[in-house]
Amino acid sequence: MMATITLLLGFIILTTPLHIEAQTPDATNNVSLSWVQNATAKGAVCLDGSPSAYYFDQGQGEGANNWIVYLQGGGWCVNQTDCLIRTTYSQGSSKHMKQSMEFVDFLSNNFTENPEFYNWNRVYVPYCDGSSFTGDIEAPDTVTNVTYRGARIFKATMDDLLSKGMNCAQNALLMGSSAGGLATMVHCDRFRDLLPLFARVKCLPIAGYFVHEENILGSKQFEPTFDALIDLHGSAAMLPPLCTSIMRPSLCLFPQYLLLFVKTPVFIAMSAFDQIQIRLNLFREDEVCLVSQNCTDDRKEAMQELRWDVLAALPKALPLFRGMWITSCIAHDLPYFSTLKIIGNKTFAEVFHDWYYDCDYLQVIDTSMEPRNCSAYGINPQALKY
Ligand SMILES: *[C@@H]1O[C@H](CO)[C@@H](O)[C@H](O)[C@H]1NC(C)=O
Ligand SMILES: *[C@@H]1O[C@H](CO)[C@@H](O)[C@H](O)[C@H]1NC(C)=O
Ligand SMILES: *[C@@H]1O[C@H](CO)[C@@H](O)[C@H](O)[C@H]1NC(C)=O
Ligand SMILES: *[C@@H]1O[C@H](CO)[C@@H](O)[C@H](O)[C@H]1NC(C)=O
Ligand SMILES: *[C@@H]1O[C@H](CO)[C@@H](O)[C@H](O)[C@H]1NC(C)=O
Repeated sequence: MMATITLLLGFIILTTPLHIEAQTPDATNNVSLSWVQNATAKGAVCLDGSPSAYYFDQGQGEGANNWIVYLQGGGWCVNQTDCLIRTTYSQGSSKHMKQSMEFVDFLSNNFTENPEFYNWNRVYVPYCDGSSFTGDIEAPDTVTNVTYRGARIFKATMDDLLSKGMNCAQNALLMGSSAGGLATMVHCDRFRDLLPLFARVKCLPIAGYFVHEENILGSKQFEPTFDALIDLHGSAAMLPPLCTSIMRPSLCLFPQYLLLFVKTPVFIAMSAFDQIQIRLNLFREDEVCLVSQNCTDDRKEAMQELRWDVLAALPKALPLFRGMWITSCIAHDLPYFSTLKIIGNKTFAEVFHDWYYDCDYLQVIDTSMEPRNCSAYGINPQALKY
């Protein structure tokens, strides 16, 4: 699989910052929370045992048979106490989810704001299982009464959407960010297999390509505790069996190994200076100085080395099978519609559009070895809680 990678290098900015107008209240896309059908009966429940739910806005006109399904992110809960704490807020309980949410960016129903998907069926799946929709343990935790059921939430949500017309999808996109981006890769083939054979189905993980580094000094990432994490949630069954038959399940969770076993086209969007990647592989202090842009030269160097490791760990596969858009912007999550143009005259949304519709297959990598502040282009360094 070597030599097929097309690295389109070069960095040109050819744009002016987008002028965003304040919306009038009646022009908003306020979407209400729906319960997943038969969620409790199917055991598709959040960490606290409450039924899973999602936000859904129906497609219209030419978009009526097109579906975009977004999986929310928010890290993993890593032990019994940590998962118990999540039951007190929306990331572990539907009781705490907002009754309605504003659909913006790629979920907006406004053509001007979202020319790509405005008339598609648009679904936002909130994250309340703490395991990237992979957990599946029958009995509640005997100590905390927490339920680990992310995989069942994914399944029951898909069943519900299929019954609402997704079974006739012509175009479909599974996407997600961070832990939701990881979930997007884990479930990509499963999503594909639920949909009609002749549908166009692809996956777009954003900021979910967490890299496993075996040798880097100071790496805290690969420890036996990762296997314990998989056991805590009962996640192994959601990983490709062929992968888990040849390596530890915790390795199969890392996209660089996982994607070797995923047959559906996947487009990877992320920053080579991803804040969380830096926090996990280096130190929390590195993320802090990165965001405030006052890192010492040796810390910058460590991050630049990490960037090379990230680039080296990207799939070496045909661009039609694995599209890419890798920025050097300081960020974790990336907006779909930003004005940044890494190569030629195209934004992320345009590169992705062409890849999705089989017009042009690109693997775009920002050549900047310096972490950059891209706020002017709508990509903001984020103050992250988790
Ligand atoms: C759509 O968005 C544009 C740009 O934000 C705004 O000017 C317009 O009022 C919106 N249209 C509707 C129908 O909400
Ligand atoms: C959104 O809709 C709900 C009812 O579905 C309403 O209670 C809420 O006030 C609305 N929010 C906004 C910002 O319009
Ligand atoms: C355990 O959680 C379930 C919901 O999953 C709830 O019905 C039950 O009352 C809880 N039990 C205790 C002892 O808190
Ligand atoms: C559980 O995880 C949290 C968050 O990482 C950590 O602060 C805490 O010490 C852990 N607790 C135990 C008992 O390991
Ligand atoms: C939910 O359960 C009802 C009654 O068993 C069944 O008719 C329906 O098809 C189920 N819906 C889904 C999406 O599983």
